[in-house]
Amino acid sequence: MNRPFREVRVDLSAVRDNIRTFADRVGVEVLAVVKANAYGHGAVPVARAALAGGATRLGVVDLTEARQLREAGIEAPILAWLHAPDEDFTGAAADSITVGVSTLAQLDAAAKAGVPAVHIAVDTGLSRNGVAESQWRDVFARAAGYEREGAFTVEGIFSHLSGTSAPDDVRQGERFRTAIAVAAEYGLQPPLLHLAATGGAWMFPELRFTMVRAGIVTYGLSPFDAKTSADLGLRPAMRLSARIVNVKHLPAGEGISYGYLYRTTQETTVALVPLGYADGIPRVLGPGAVVSINGTEFPIAGRVAMDQFVVDVGAHPVSVGDEAVLWGDPEKGEPAVERWAKAAGTINYELVTRLGNRPVRTYVGD
Ligand SMILES: Cc1ncc(COP(=O)(O)O)c(C=O)c1O
Repeated sequence: MNRPFREVRVDLSAVRDNIRTFADRVGVEVLAVVKANAYGHGAVPVARAALAGGATRLGVVDLTEARQLREAGIEAPILAWLHAPDEDFTGAAADSITVGVSTLAQLDAAAKAGVPAVHIAVDTGLSRNGVAESQWRDVFARAAGYEREGAFTVEGIFSHLSGTSAPDDVRQGERFRTAIAVAAEYGLQPPLLHLAATGGAWMFPELRFTMVRAGIVTYGLSPFDAKTSADLGLRPAMRLSARIVNVKHLPAGEGISYGYLYRTTQETTVALVPLGYADGIPRVLGPGAVVSINGTEFPIAGRVAMDQFVVDVGAHPVSVGDEAVLWGDPEKGEPAVERWAKAAGTINYELVTRLGNRPVRTYVGD
């Protein structure tokens, strides 16, 4: 079989090992966050690998993502926490999806649909989703009522950190403790209390409560600017590559790609990489992004276009069909995705997650 010429290769053994490393460190139950197609890695295979690595639950954003996992035959508990306005939870009930609720209306809808369990999302200072503090008592009172009637089990209370600073995260932890205490006044004592995702859970034992949510760590990437994957004992699971589709020799003074942001300064060779912004490669790119071809790193020459970009390989012998690795595991000599993220003024999360569907996902280490 021909290898795909644009490939996202995902190492499922890395996913398993990363979850194991994280679970060992945190010492509490781990929910693997596989939303957004598992941060671009492929929801179903990653979910299976994360469960094999010791995650006991899966987290997704919405019910469509949850359905995809159930359709693939995954039976582990799934929590979904962001819903359409006027969401009807009948499908969630049928699929046995645990619903994260942020409003009274969602509580009512969950009870009406007969979902098995809910986790109440409380806002502790991110000001995003979650019940505002002024509404905690109303929501807890109504949830306790539903639980007493047997409509559903209130299985969890959760929140999400801003990651702004240690004092900010610790303050959110205190508000989370207050929320748990207020819920207890209404007779709610759910077993699953979860506040921290990768960064908070890694850094602060006191913020781990009874469960943590493993997002970026699952994929072997660091949430910290100053720490690499290897510093944390993780292995990046994703390797993005494409095969060179054209090689040509150019004289000095030729402009390359739209707007001629790059001009050859001497006679040289350029190679064409068939990935562009339609595939999620950033068009806005400062210096620092490189590809590795036959073990040598080359910077990007000129603008990234919709489907392709060029690298100036100088006098190096590069041929059509050679593989250009954009990012992978630096321990294997591949560029780190963080180098691209820095060049694009963004974070590793965004680059892996936003890859399009043209690069074919392949899986190793199953
Ligand atoms: C509610 C919630 N929990 C957990 C996560 C996972 O975070 P991380 O990837 O930093 O572990 C996210 C990611 O955005 C999230 O929105």
